[in-house]
Amino acid sequence: MILLLGANGFIGRAFAAELRRRRKPFLPVTRQSLDYCEFSLLFSYVRKLRPKFLINAAGFPGSPNIDACEHARELTLHANMLLPQQIAHVCTLTNTPWGHVSSGGIFCGAKIVVEGETHVERDLSQPDLRRFLDLHPEAIRGFTEEDEPNFSFLSPPCSFYSGTKALGEQAISEAGNCYVWRPALPFSEEDHPRNFLSKLQLYPKVFDQVISATQTRDFAVACLDLWESRAEFGTYHVANPGFITTRHVAELIHDILRPEQHFEYWKDADEFYRCAAKEPRPNCLLDVSKLLNAGVNIRPIEAALESSLREWRPAHPAFEFQGTGPDLKVLLH
Ligand SMILES: NC(=O)c1ccc[n+]([C@@H]2O[C@H](COP(=O)([O-])OP(=O)(O)OC[C@H]3O[C@@H](n4cnc5c(N)ncnc54)[C@H](OP(=O)(O)O)[C@@H]3O)[C@@H](O)[C@H]2O)c1
Repeated sequence: MILLLGANGFIGRAFAAELRRRRKPFLPVTRQSLDYCEFSLLFSYVRKLRPKFLINAAGFPGSPNIDACEHARELTLHANMLLPQQIAHVCTLTNTPWGHVSSGGIFCGAKIVVEGETHVERDLSQPDLRRFLDLHPEAIRGFTEEDEPNFSFLSPPCSFYSGTKALGEQAISEAGNCYVWRPALPFSEEDHPRNFLSKLQLYPKVFDQVISATQTRDFAVACLDLWESRAEFGTYHVANPGFITTRHVAELIHDILRPEQHFEYWKDADEFYRCAAKEPRPNCLLDVSKLLNAGVNIRPIEAALESSLREWRPAHPAFEFQGTGPDLKVLLH
C-alpha cells in the first residue's frame, strides 16, 4: 500500500492517476479525511497501516499565485516546512521510505558559460543576454542537484514561498530513505488554476523568460519510476529535458489551442515587477542529467507541451475519495 498525502492537489492528482494506471494499491489522503498535519494522527496512522511508500504531494504554492504566500506566511511556513519535517520524523520512526515534492523554484536564472568561465545570470529576460543565447544556445546550463539554492532566505532576494520550500528541504535533509523531487513550472492537458498553460492564457501580458517546465503526468511517472527501479534516494530535478521561452509557449498556445488569442508581452523585468507581480519569480533552468542517468525516460519539453495542448480538456472534478480504501479514522482505533 502506498500512502498519498495531498491527493486532491494539482500534483497529487497526477500521482493518483498514475498509481491507478499502474494498478498500485494506494490510499489517497486529504486533510479532510485525515488531518495529516497533526503529528500524532499521522504517526499512529502510518504505524498501523505500514505503507510500503509514502508520497508527500501536499504543500502551499499560493493561490492564485506565489504572491499570496506573502500574505499567509504562517500557513505557508507550516505547509512547506513544518509539514515535511513532521512527515520526515514519522517516516524515520516507522522506517517508511518516502518521496517529497519540493520545487525547482529555489533556484533563479541559469548558468552561462562564456569562454570556459561559468557564471550565474538571475534575470533571463535581459535583451542582450537573449540575443547572445539565440546565437549560442549551448552556453546556457541548468542548475544541478549539487548547486546550492540561490533563491532562498540564505541567498536573497527570494519569494516567501521559495524561502519556505528551501527551508523544507533543509528540515528533511537528514532523513534517510527519502526522495526529494524538484519539479519546474508544472503543466498538463487539464485546464486548472495551478496549470502554467492555464495561467498563461489568463495573463494580460506575458513575461518572456527562459524556463524549465514539468508536465505533471511525466513528473508522476518519473518519480514513481525512481522508486520502483530502486534508484538511490536523494534529490532529483524532475523536468522535461530542454528549455523553452515563455514567448514560445504562448506561440504554441496560439497555434494549437487558441488561434483567436494574441499575446502581448511585458517590455522587461522592471515593467513586469512594477505592474504585475509583487514577489520575485523563481524562473530557472534545471539540469536533469541525474534523472536521465538514473535510467528514467522523460520526453523533451517541446513534445510534452505540444501534446498537452493538443489534448486540452476542462478540469476533472475533485478526486473522489469514497470507496478507494479502508476508512482512515477506523484504522486509528
Ligand atoms: N504549482 C506549482 O507551481 C508548483 C511548482 C513546483 C512545486 N510545487 C509543489 O508541489 C506541491 C503540490 O502543489 P500543487 O500545485 O499540487 O498545489 P495544490 O493544488 O494547492 O495542492 C496542494 C495540496 O496540499 C494540501 N495542503 C496541506 N497543507 C496545506 C495547507 N496548509 N494549505 C493548503 N494546502 C495544504 C492540500 O490538500 P488537502 O486536500 O489535503 O487539504 C492541497 O490539495 C507543493 O509542495 C508545491 O510547493 C508546486
